Amino acid sequence: MGGLRRLEYRGYDSAGVVIDKNNADLAVVKTAGRLDRLAAALELEPLPGNTGIGHTRWATHGRPNDVNAHPHTDCQGKIAVVHNGIIENYQELRERLEAEGHSFRSETDTEVIPHLIEDYYEGDLAAAVRRALQDVRGSYAVAVMHENHPGTIVAARQDSPLIIGLGQGENLLASDIPAVLDYTRDVLVMDDGDVAVLQAGAVSLTDLDGHPRSREPMHVQWDAAMAEKAGYPHFMLKEIHEQPRAIRDTLTGRLASIPVQVAQGATNGHQRLVRLEGVHMGAGELADVHSVQVIACGTAAHAGWVGKHVIEQLARIPVQVEVASEFRYRDPMVDEHTLGVVISQSGETADTLAGLREARRRGSRILAITNVVGSSVAREADDLIYTWAGPEIAVASTKAYVTQLVTLDLLALWMAERLGRLEPAQGLAVAKAIRELPRAVEQALALEPQVQALAQQIRHKEHIFFLGRGLDHALAMEGALKLKEISYIHAEAYAAGELKHGTLALVEEGTPVVALVTQPRLAEKMVSNIREVKARGAYVIVVAPESQELAGQEADAFLPIPETLDLVAPAVAVVPLQLLAYYAAVARGCDVDKPRNLAKSVTVE
Ligand code: M6R
Repeated sequence: MGGLRRLEYRGYDSAGVVIDKNNADLAVVKTAGRLDRLAAALELEPLPGNTGIGHTRWATHGRPNDVNAHPHTDCQGKIAVVHNGIIENYQELRERLEAEGHSFRSETDTEVIPHLIEDYYEGDLAAAVRRALQDVRGSYAVAVMHENHPGTIVAARQDSPLIIGLGQGENLLASDIPAVLDYTRDVLVMDDGDVAVLQAGAVSLTDLDGHPRSREPMHVQWDAAMAEKAGYPHFMLKEIHEQPRAIRDTLTGRLASIPVQVAQGATNGHQRLVRLEGVHMGAGELADVHSVQVIACGTAAHAGWVGKHVIEQLARIPVQVEVASEFRYRDPMVDEHTLGVVISQSGETADTLAGLREARRRGSRILAITNVVGSSVAREADDLIYTWAGPEIAVASTKAYVTQLVTLDLLALWMAERLGRLEPAQGLAVAKAIRELPRAVEQALALEPQVQALAQQIRHKEHIFFLGRGLDHALAMEGALKLKEISYIHAEAYAAGELKHGTLALVEEGTPVVALVTQPRLAEKMVSNIREVKARGAYVIVVAPESQELAGQEADAFLPIPETLDLVAPAVAVVPLQLLAYYAAVARGCDVDKPRNLAKSVTVE
């Protein structure tokens, strides 16, 4: 149950366990709803035993109810299976199995797996699992138990994460590392096509044909306490406050302390500002990059929009940004002259991974920006930059976003420098601003009481607009998403100049409008846009550096952020937006860390 709680962020609309009950028969308990309901059921009916599997579900096929919860069993209840992912040909498999006499209980795609295993079982469980999975099309991380094989779990992975924790006299299986950290730090990351057999004293790996595979375990440096709340009421608030530390970690060893010569404008090839340890692209390969294609989802895509501005401005390489779910099916115009920049906190988002593979298939080199060590995105990329944000548990991404921004700033500087396009003075100014970010974010966090009061004011509103121009428009998208996903207030981000082409019709007396004014060269234009919405009765909250007096004067509420270079300002200005979303959600009584209908890691299409 402890392990399941650590993984609740992956999905939590129902949960279940199967226990090999004192080496006798398999006992299954499952409940719709949160894990607490399963815990209560297990208190009423404790299940003694040494081998078991637990699962929390995020529904894809079939409603979240008791029957559809995992584990699923075969006709005789001898085989139990939990599964993450989607079986794409489940309908056809189900029809075949039903025609053979198998009877199904749930609406899920998963249930075909225990029935297939039942079909192929001839005394060797691993062989039956391998054979069954050869009939399956789609993505899966599965764990299987059979009554005839007490003390054994067979597991397999295809396009859905699965790791094995190597313990002392015990072995563990989980879809993410935090679940096993109370027991071990030695972890085997399973690859696509792996089938594992786990027993208390042994772990073996094969491919789907039964050929042995070997893998080196990795030792996890961070501990489970890093994934706990550390006294904060919610993971999200803790993670917002961790941002200065997270940025420092992102920067460690990557941004040179600036040599005096550079400061004086005499940079040469030996005094690099930026070092990116996992980027192996040579100068020739970089010079051959005609454009960059960012592939990502949600918040990571929003970071990509910020990255577009920064890379284009510093390195003068055109950047396209596209959400991965569109990119993968669009016949995109990328080739060997395109650098695919894949951004993903988890490194396991199904659409993002598919986008990565699509870009690679078309000849693009892949540079990944991810937070999770050993994740699929990390393993499939040619070049890799870890964001080092530490484990992010809240569904709403905060520190991952900020560290993605900082990583993209570093990447832009790195590209510009290697291409010989970085003006020394500009490089110096950007590097200085990046280095000052942790302090600036700390100062922005001091706005917390003010933002909390504002959240009380907006808590009953139905709609909110976020306006900005340039980089502020990119940031506005993230501000709106954050508010929507955890407070359930409808929020829309608009390029401020575009509002009057239709959406302005929605602004009425008291409509809250968050206006972002961090880009000095666009400030006057923003002030005009603020006046436009005020004239229609909007309640305007301005987020801007203190020096933006004019914008501040127009505001009904002013959230002054520390002065910083415009190019890196989104990493600071996002802080009040994150806090606004957080406190609005708290004020509305929402489940901040686990918003309805969402999962932290979207490993299905
Ligand atoms: O793990 P990833 O960065 O690939 O996740 C992408 C999105 O699912 C994620 O950013 C999502 O939008 C967050 N819930 C936003 O807070």
